[in-house]
Amino acid sequence: MPSIGIFVGSSGGVTLEAAEKLQELLEGSELINMEEDYDDLEQLGEYDVLLIGSSTWGQGDPQRDWVDPLFEMQNDEPDFSGKKVAFFGAGDQESHPEEFVSALGKMKDIFTKLGADTAFGSWPTEGYSYKYSFAERDGKFCGLPVDDINQEDLTEERLQKWAAQLKSEMGL
Ligand SMILES: Cc1cc2nc3c(=O)[nH]c(=O)nc-3n(C[C@H](O)[C@H](O)[C@H](O)COP(=O)(O)O)c2cc1C
Repeated sequence: MPSIGIFVGSSGGVTLEAAEKLQELLEGSELINMEEDYDDLEQLGEYDVLLIGSSTWGQGDPQRDWVDPLFEMQNDEPDFSGKKVAFFGAGDQESHPEEFVSALGKMKDIFTKLGADTAFGSWPTEGYSYKYSFAERDGKFCGLPVDDINQEDLTEERLQKWAAQLKSEMGL
């Protein structure tokens, strides 16, 4: 079995709750809360599969606990080749339709540049209403957006489907 690390940055707990659900759904996975459990980049290196979770803030930016690690990654350029990586995170399509879950796209680009295989966990844009998202690639989101502010009733089902999709795509 590949080792699975779920690394999550969450300010209000929405993305953290999604991460906890994913941990339940993906047997043997470990949850790393960026605020409390994260020490250094080497931790990311310990897993075969990384699920990277972040809500979106500011001008479509990753959650604050990701800022330093992402900066370090771009500076130190660790080799992530051979790793399978997927992205998820909370956003608010109604109040922030101009940068809906854009953090997922920013993080995907950084991990891809470091050699990770990030072609997992794409998600249809149908069912969401927004103007622009940096996470939209070729007509799909490059990860799973959850929006508990406007669509809380859909979150559980989305997480279940996404976890099943990852199991099949990644052979988990
Ligand atoms: C100041 C501020 C800026 C935000 N910017 C964005 C944004 O650019 N895009 C987006 O999708 N959501 C944005 N949001 C919404 C948050 O991502 C949303 O509240 C989310 O549920 C927070 O998740 P968390 O509890 O995991 O941190 C913003 C919220 C605030 C308060």
